[in-house]
Amino acid sequence: MRLLLTAGPTREAIDPVRYITNRSSGKMGHALAEAAVSKGHEVILISGPVALAPPAGLAEFVAVESAREMFEAVRDRIGKCDAAIFCAAVADYRPRRIAERKIKKTGDTLTLELEKTEDILGGARTVFGFAGVLVGFAAETDNLDANARAKLERKDCDLLVANDVSRRDIGFDSGENEVRLFYRDGRVEDPPMGAKSAIAERLIRIVETLATQQG
Ligand code: C5P
Repeated sequence: MRLLLTAGPTREAIDPVRYITNRSSGKMGHALAEAAVSKGHEVILISGPVALAPPAGLAEFVAVESAREMFEAVRDRIGKCDAAIFCAAVADYRPRRIAERKIKKTGDTLTLELEKTEDILGGARTVFGFAGVLVGFAAETDNLDANARAKLERKDCDLLVANDVSRRDIGFDSGENEVRLFYRDGRVEDPPMGAKSAIAERLIRIVETLATQQG
């Protein structure tokens, strides 16, 4: 398979020294890339800023900062791929204006006006016309099941991987994760909690199966 993966957070500039971002170490996305490479797939990894070295053996590694850059990197590559896994924690909003100079600490309060970023996963089918296997991630603190199912449908995914990020023992920065899998046909699966590498291997196997079913 030719597989496109997004990973890590994005950074949305406020001024030359500040940005807003999402919590994400990039570990899950990089583990997915590593697992896919070791299964012999051709892997394009598009990653926001993380402290990890990209795994060896990638077909391409694209380092991006902002949601807009990630959107463009995906747009330019997804057409040739059989499957796409969107693991990145993309910022949903960015400052409407980026200050050219450092904002000085003059007022007691500071108001930033934010605008929505491009929804990359949401655009996979509708904007990019992607017809391959599409996998989204969802980090939720509340109503995990309802939010995950709604996201799966809204973004027309084949599989949605949901994380309960209100738990401290797993998820962010951790080497371990526990996920719940929601399939398009309504099936729900709870793989055992485990190392992100083990979860990554399982997810790649599932994507292989879905790709075979799609033909
Ligand atoms: O709806 P929500 O943003 O929570 O969806 C999360 C999923 O969408 C993740 O797979 C994430 O990588 C993807 N996403 C995206 N572009 C955005 C926001 C989220 O691709 N701007």
